[in-house]
Amino acid sequence: MRAIQPIDWTPQGVRMLDQRRLPGEVVYNVYADYAAVAAAIRDMVIRGAPAIGVAAAMGVALGVERSAAKSLDDLRKEFPIICGTLAKTRPTAVDLFWAIERMKKSFAAAASAPGASLDSIRAAIVAEAKLLHLEKRAIDEAIGRFGAALMPQEGRVMTQCNAGALATAGIGTALGVIRVAVEQGRKLTVLVPETRPYLQGARLTAWELQQDGIPLTLITDNMVGHILKTQQVGAIVVGADRIAANGDAANKIGTYQIAVLAREHNVPFYVAAPISTLDLSIPSGEHIPIEERSPDEVTHLRGVRIAPDVAVANPAFDVTPARLIAAIITERGVARAPYTDSLRALANAKTPAD
Ligand code: MRU
Repeated sequence: MRAIQPIDWTPQGVRMLDQRRLPGEVVYNVYADYAAVAAAIRDMVIRGAPAIGVAAAMGVALGVERSAAKSLDDLRKEFPIICGTLAKTRPTAVDLFWAIERMKKSFAAAASAPGASLDSIRAAIVAEAKLLHLEKRAIDEAIGRFGAALMPQEGRVMTQCNAGALATAGIGTALGVIRVAVEQGRKLTVLVPETRPYLQGARLTAWELQQDGIPLTLITDNMVGHILKTQQVGAIVVGADRIAANGDAANKIGTYQIAVLAREHNVPFYVAAPISTLDLSIPSGEHIPIEERSPDEVTHLRGVRIAPDVAVANPAFDVTPARLIAAIITERGVARAPYTDSLRALANAKTPAD
């Protein structure tokens, strides 16, 4: 299954589709050093939990590949600075930290291998970033297959934000589920809330689904209650940025209110996410750091002021309690309540690819 590719490793550097300019312009930028990759993550050139994990891994690889270090010792000293710069970009999505940890392990293994040299470490770390990227596609496709079975044969489904190819570098998590379901012949129309303030639904999900010819209806965020009350909606499927051990799931702001409304209207609410989005080190969603973004995203629309200069809140994510989640769809299978047991079992399970 083909889907748009938001990030790639090239000989010139890390090439990323500039998501800030969608849907109006499809522009790819090349980032030639790790600090520029870090800035691109922070500035939302690339966004979405798994995709920023891929970007961070490639950023680490770029930092090592292009380091001016003349000795192994110098590279060992520089490596934590590279990782630290990438880790400071965005706080909520755990995939970012998971990817950096994986690159740290790869570095440690390469640096302690017999006969390790600067060249061998560089080659190993670039190969690891490319492998991590490659794995995303297979992971999303497995999530898609497990999730598609939970979708209705026909009718409306709803999502939130953008959990598509743009957000994962595969076929998407929530949108991967929808893509596979549609490919299987299910006749679905996707309800896409615009996802204020950053408009990932309107700008990105609407564009991505349109590219694939998947029918959609764009709605504003404040229409969700009315639509769930007055129209038949078969399922809601969203992505996640971090899932705690008890199944509480952080995702884009507005997800929690959709889950509450889904419960009121008896619509199953699913979370689709890779195992790398699980953070079993925290018992519940209360421990998930929520990114607070610039007030300008609320007071301005594409540079035009739409509100007076007043106090503004702009939490970028919220946490949906596990009790509102009908199932969590991963590449290793579908977890259901009690999530403390089912998520741990999936996290410890080995897949044929492991
Ligand atoms: O602020 P963003 O655009 O990075 O937020 C993205 C989301 O909240 C996605 O739903 C989440 O990362 C899952 S992406 C598969």
